[in-house]
Amino acid sequence: MPLTAASQDVTSSASPSAIPMPAPIGAEIVGIDVAAGPSQADYQFLRDALHEHSVIVLRGQDITPQQQQSFGAHFGELRTSFYNRYAVPDVPALTIVSNLRGADGELIGIADAGMLWHTDGSYLKTPDMYTVLYGIEIPHEGGQVLGDTVFASAWGAYDALPSGMQRRVDSLRAVHSFTVHLEKKQAKGQLKRAPLTEEQRKKVPDVDHPVVRTHPINGRKCLFVTEGHTSEIVGLDGAEGSELLEFLTEHVKQPQFQYRHHWKKGDLIVWDNCAVQHLAVFDYGQIPRRLHRAGISGPVPV
Ligand code: SIN
Repeated sequence: MPLTAASQDVTSSASPSAIPMPAPIGAEIVGIDVAAGPSQADYQFLRDALHEHSVIVLRGQDITPQQQQSFGAHFGELRTSFYNRYAVPDVPALTIVSNLRGADGELIGIADAGMLWHTDGSYLKTPDMYTVLYGIEIPHEGGQVLGDTVFASAWGAYDALPSGMQRRVDSLRAVHSFTVHLEKKQAKGQLKRAPLTEEQRKKVPDVDHPVVRTHPINGRKCLFVTEGHTSEIVGLDGAEGSELLEFLTEHVKQPQFQYRHHWKKGDLIVWDNCAVQHLAVFDYGQIPRRLHRAGISGPVPV
């Protein structure tokens, strides 16, 4: 029988395997039960698979927030979000991503996360290297799954650029701004959270990063400008800068670089924020959706 993800038992004690998705990035991991406590060898397998495939998917996981937090800590240092009002109670490293409201009528989580293409924490000096996202409540309608997450290969997009364009962008830097990100969302009528307080704003001053960053583990060159957070290319004023930025951010979004994830409850995904950009698809309106997210800090991009 051919090896398919569906034919594998998540609790199998056999060695884990990674089954590539029918896409340029992404692999499904079978043979690891996170609640049972993966071995050090399993974690090494997961890190290697992540660096090879850029996005890894572990289906059918039944884990507590504490188990997700401890799973995430095996990939590096967990980052506590400055939006701590949306943290999972008693599990500060997990942020709730949801459109649900509590008894007080307030949103219980971030309801507008991922509406524009982005890579997590690029507005920080040390952006998140990895993200761990766990599906708890997944919207459906008429038998169709809604609320997909789409990933695009930032290294595939760089590799596909003509060599003249690669040379042009290789030494440039660009500004990433959380403030501009919220303004972009507001301009599109997509902002669903309170504006930043002055104190929060001070915690996220604008930063600049290379337009092309080199992956610290596998050495791939990755396009590191996004529709969501990049506000300008350093030193290129006016139309020259904005046209180049638009060209690059549109280029990376093309379908040939993508893996589109259709969620199931119990899916646990880890992605590499140097290697991919991502977008959340908001096609579910008020149908409940809840995921828990952990960000893992990375190095200063070079
Ligand atoms: C995010 O971009 O962090 C959230 C992704 C999603 O909700 O699908």
